Amino acid sequence: MPDHKSFWKNSRKAYRFLIVLCGVAFIAAILVFYIKGDKVDDNYEDVVEKDPNRIENGIHVRTGLIDAPGLTETVNNCTTCHSAKLVIQNRMSKARWQATIRWMQETQNLWDLGDQEDIIVNYLVTNYPPQKKGRRQSLSDVEWYTLK
Ligand code: HEC
Repeated sequence: MPDHKSFWKNSRKAYRFLIVLCGVAFIAAILVFYIKGDKVDDNYEDVVEKDPNRIENGIHVRTGLIDAPGLTETVNNCTTCHSAKLVIQNRMSKARWQATIRWMQETQNLWDLGDQEDIIVNYLVTNYPPQKKGRRQSLSDVEWYTLK
């Protein structure tokens, strides 16, 4: 039986041992990551399966859209081809929302929305209007001074 001292003196063995240890730790970390990830997904599916139109804190959980008049029409017509995120991350004026819909109709096979178009455009411009402020408000009350 190799004694303790000679194991650590034999650096080759010690390195090999450390490398194996790192490998095991790495695999364990990946496993933990996957198991945790699965749990989150299961939970999301649970929520969505029980009630696909569940609202939490004013947000339609499945899509992330704001709960307001016109939500149903928007979910039904605007989340089938692409994620609702594409809608949420865009903030536009009424004319630009209309133009975006027209563009999708002309180039992306979006169907005629009929009576629902007004409802959807109103929903969009009410809840996703152009951002009023830029990233940073312009400077005010600046005391300018001249360089000497
Ligand atoms: C028939 C499929 C389809 C439907 C339904 C659809 N879209 Fe799209 N939309 C697209 C495609 C395709 C793109 C381009 C995606 C890309 O660039 O990756 C797009 C892009 C967009 C963009 C991004 C435009 C840009 O300038 O980048 C917005 C915003 C958008 N859609 C909103 C909507 C809204 C609002 C509705 C509901 C009225 C809707 N979409 C319904 C196909 C669709």
